[in-house]
Amino acid sequence: QVDIPSLADTFKNDFAIGAAIEPDQLNGLSADLMKKQINMLVAENVMKPASIQPAEGQFNWEQADRIVAFAKANNMAVRFHTLVWHSQVPDWFFKDVDGKPMTDETDPKKREANKRLLLDRLDAHVRAIVGRYKDDITYWDVVNEVIEPADPDGMRSSNWYKITGTDYIATSFRAAREAGGPRIKLYINDYGTDDPKKRDRLYDLVKEMLGKGVPIDGVGHQTHISVYNPSVTNIVDSMKKFRELGLDNQITELDMSVYNWNDRTDYGAAVPEDILQKQAQRYRELFEALKSNAGLVSAVVFWGIADDHTWLSTFPVTRTEAPLLFDKQLHAKPAFWAIVDPSYKV
Ligand code: G3I
Repeated sequence: QVDIPSLADTFKNDFAIGAAIEPDQLNGLSADLMKKQINMLVAENVMKPASIQPAEGQFNWEQADRIVAFAKANNMAVRFHTLVWHSQVPDWFFKDVDGKPMTDETDPKKREANKRLLLDRLDAHVRAIVGRYKDDITYWDVVNEVIEPADPDGMRSSNWYKITGTDYIATSFRAAREAGGPRIKLYINDYGTDDPKKRDRLYDLVKEMLGKGVPIDGVGHQTHISVYNPSVTNIVDSMKKFRELGLDNQITELDMSVYNWNDRTDYGAAVPEDILQKQAQRYRELFEALKSNAGLVSAVVFWGIADDHTWLSTFPVTRTEAPLLFDKQLHAKPAFWAIVDPSYKV
């Protein structure tokens, strides 16, 4: 892994290259690989609400600080993931003054008071975190996964939405901008943005928010894809649509499962060579499309650095997975060569 090309160098005139990691990966071979290959770092879990503010007013900065310090020491940018989410968020946010779930309240006056309380807690959460990291972290996932086409209005029926409508989105972006100033870039992040139905709902929401003066700078496209789908055309078309609104795009959680999404097969000992080749072809196709559409994305972040650590090895079932560019021994895979070396045959 020492004598191979660097992804960050290869794409230095196109976009940043990042990876999401846990703090315990900041040592040894993973750390060496990251120093060589990437110039942007993301916390896979330790900056989420449940990790960073587990109880009201009680902040756990230690793990997040480690990531920021490593990035600084190695000249890497940081993407913050994520100020707001429906998952990995502690219950205390949604309890009323008597400790009762706000969603159980039926009295309209008390519902209004609960909404105010929740928005105040959110505002304080955002200001505390942005205030601490505004000089070290440029890119911020402000809200994550707020769209769900199957839910009423196409908005995910999270506690946030049930209690505040879309006000939680406006509040978080406004608080982030006020606390961080114009230098920090604020993103709305989601998965499945290649799907036209979901993309269009997200587009309408973003347009509505921009119309109200809500400071959204860009769209984060998670891009958890597989060797089988979706098409690169759909991925790119979605980003073009947001670009037309004057927004930046970032690919925020890229990985490519070696299985079909609904399939529960397990390759066991080894992923077949032809599947790894197919993966290489798809990665090449995607990166060529991104490169040829100059300015379409400002960053491409992988959801992990190597196949030794990936959420897909336990989700949707526990099985052998290989979604990234480096294998379990941290050696470059065909997909890596397909991206960095145009003469590599796939
Ligand atoms: O920290 C606890 C540990 O104390 C406990 O012993 C262990 C036992 O299960 O769980 C640990 O927490 C796990 C946590 O990751 C940290 O490892 C949770 O169970 C596990 O559910 C959690 O999974 C994370 C998942 O988000 C949560 O929804 C994955 O690592 C993380 O990769 C994944 O990331 C998400 C993005 O934030 C948003 N987009 C989708 C992406 C993939 O699901």
